Amino acid sequence: MKHLLGLKDVSRDEIMEIMQTASKMKALLLRDEKKLNDLEGKTVVTLFYENSTRTRVSFELAAKYMSASTVHVASASSSVQKGETLLDTGRTLDVMRTDVIVMRHPMAGAPHLLSQHVKASVINAGDGMNEHPTQALLDLFTLYEKYGSFEGLKVAIVGDIAHSRVAKSNVFGLNKLGAQAVLFAPKTLMPPCFEQLGAKVAASREEAISGADAVMGLRIQLERQKGGLFPSLGEYARFYGVGEEQMKLAAPHAILMHPGPVNRGVELSSQVIDAEYSKIDEQVLNGVAVRMALLYLLTRN
Ligand code: CP
Repeated sequence: MKHLLGLKDVSRDEIMEIMQTASKMKALLLRDEKKLNDLEGKTVVTLFYENSTRTRVSFELAAKYMSASTVHVASASSSVQKGETLLDTGRTLDVMRTDVIVMRHPMAGAPHLLSQHVKASVINAGDGMNEHPTQALLDLFTLYEKYGSFEGLKVAIVGDIAHSRVAKSNVFGLNKLGAQAVLFAPKTLMPPCFEQLGAKVAASREEAISGADAVMGLRIQLERQKGGLFPSLGEYARFYGVGEEQMKLAAPHAILMHPGPVNRGVELSSQVIDAEYSKIDEQVLNGVAVRMALLYLLTRN
């Protein structure tokens, strides 16, 4: 692998190599002394055309912990505002001998296009409604830590499926690893393509969550929709949100996940976010370990 553009094109063996490398990285990350020199002499640029906290900071920390030089480029304060194209921006970073460009963009396929025009490795940090592969990898790693394997796991994904690049990458990943993604959303937020990708679509929230080994809530992506897809946030929370009542339907050992940022009290109740079975904070920590593993594997190759 030179680039990581989506889990659609990553094999089961490659995902398992990332999981195993992330386990080692997490052990190193948990030490008091976090500095490694695996990326000494390498440069990582985060090029973000959309807002981010978790993805951007965890990539930057992962690169710094491994001794890479890092630079952040936010489109709002860059020459993009003067009319520079995506490819010209990418080429500018490339000729400065950047080794890895981590890119988030509102258009699906933007990182794929950039990867064809630069020498650097390109990592997709979220492209429109297409994929968010590093989020799915950290979700998979959180499941791997809990269960040790993926075969036969039921993962309920509940929320705004239609606009979710996280859901799509998770469906690709879970499918390849022998787990079953079961989706539930309001009909207006559930496109038909997901069944063709290998997911099961549940008829009710209860059906999706019953017996699940993990329940993943998704944020309502208000920035990607024009409105009118559900009556109100209050009704959404009541009929499509996950609270303690819903979590009682999951398997007794089930964990709760969410990619963040969470709309508290909308897709998840505050009680479940802060419950013992919630792995939301662990997911954030795992994001650093997984991104350390990816930077290591991509630059080594
Ligand atoms: N999960 C996720 O991508 O979060 P950020 O938008 O904060 O990066």
